[in-house]
Amino acid sequence: MSRTAKLELDGKTYELPVIEGSEKELAIDISQLRAQTGYITLDDGYGNTGSCTSAVTYIDGDKGILRYRGIPIEEIAGNSSFVETAWLVIFGHLPTIEERNRFSVLLTDNSRLDETMYKHFDGFPAHGNPMAILSAMINALSTHEPEVIDDQVATEVAAARLISKVRTIAAAAYKASIGEPIVYPRYDLKYVENFLHMMFSVPYKEHEPSPEAVRALNLFLALHADHEQNCSTSTVRMVASSQANMYASCAAGVCALWGPLHGGANVAVIEMLQYLRDSGMPVSEYVAKVKDKDSKVKLMGFGHRVYRNFDPRSKILKAAADDLLEHMDTHDPLLDLAVELADSALSDPYFVERKLYPNVDFYSGIILRAIGIPLDMFTVMFAIGRMPGWIANWKEIHDNPKSRIYRPRQVYVGRTGEHFVPREDRTDEE
Ligand code: CMC
Repeated sequence: MSRTAKLELDGKTYELPVIEGSEKELAIDISQLRAQTGYITLDDGYGNTGSCTSAVTYIDGDKGILRYRGIPIEEIAGNSSFVETAWLVIFGHLPTIEERNRFSVLLTDNSRLDETMYKHFDGFPAHGNPMAILSAMINALSTHEPEVIDDQVATEVAAARLISKVRTIAAAAYKASIGEPIVYPRYDLKYVENFLHMMFSVPYKEHEPSPEAVRALNLFLALHADHEQNCSTSTVRMVASSQANMYASCAAGVCALWGPLHGGANVAVIEMLQYLRDSGMPVSEYVAKVKDKDSKVKLMGFGHRVYRNFDPRSKILKAAADDLLEHMDTHDPLLDLAVELADSALSDPYFVERKLYPNVDFYSGIILRAIGIPLDMFTVMFAIGRMPGWIANWKEIHDNPKSRIYRPRQVYVGRTGEHFVPREDRTDEE
């Protein structure tokens, strides 16, 4: 029997359908609320609002569970490359050998940018923010690509183009920013190796990444591949809902990811750790500062809208950071500081009561630093990793014949009953 929720309003009772997800998540369907009652709901920050149904990713924030297409992130982390994970996220199942090979070939064949695209890099200032460049260049890509994506083949090609070229753009933006010649992709290298080649090879020396670095970067990217309706993915869906193309929608995702409360947190975490290292401020003093609301300082890499438990990705990344540094026989004092900070916060009632735990950004920067990725590229790395999730969410909207344009309402709290005042009659006092 289907369940309903009862709402009493102005002396009338309304029955609202209850929707149950495949993991028994419950939601009250209010899609007819305004038509039936004249009321809307208000949920600033969308903390209680399901904006869509989606079959891509499942999170249980209380239990610290994350699954892509039903598969636990812990199983993906140990077994799958980024490319295979990308296919899973976008197309809904692990690829067969034939699908995997086909997608790999498409990624390789589409790794180069059109020559005119390379010219754009000369137009950005030397130290222009790479997130701005990435977003602008993804938009520029849409001028080279067909807008119509109407079947599986076209979707595979478009997805491969975007996932492949975004890595080429990111590396080229880095090279341009440090005044080195742009390095073209190689057709004999796999996805991650090719990216590291474009980032770190120079005309007189090929970069040869260690297998540990390649493994760690594959893991980093796979763990970032999707995370349901976060700020950037919701932005992608918002733009996609107007039937904008895949490139324009994903470029908007890059902009949303940029901020320090979202993807920009991976930069902010390292800046915080560097500040602690350079200033010599004791961890206890810093923790006291983040607890003081007047300081406006947050413990970056801690807390999450959905997780009220460990973010499972942070556990995996912490272990991977330990492994990578051990293999490289390197010691990073920032990792020691991160561990000390986490231990201090996790035993502090402020964090315990608010259920604040390390999130994905807390340890990811340690891995990126060890691989040699510069700090201002960290959020770009997040964007490369998140591309499959954005494409999958764009695809859900695009493939759904019932999709409607996203158009929330608001409760107006501005002035009322005002009238136009001619320019000459306006005074400064108001
Ligand atoms: N440091 C100190 N206090 C915090 C923190 C933090 N990192 N995060 C939340 N709080 C406090 C917050 O001030 C509030 O306190 P009170 O109840 O006394 O007002 C309480 O915990 C609840 O937090 P909230 O602000 O309601 O949480 P939110 O869901 O609105 O925000 C968040 C989530 C991730 C933006 C926030 O936790 C934060 O700013 N964290 C630091 C930035 C960060 O690491 N972002 C990356 C998020 S994960 C990856 C991604 O999405 O890109």
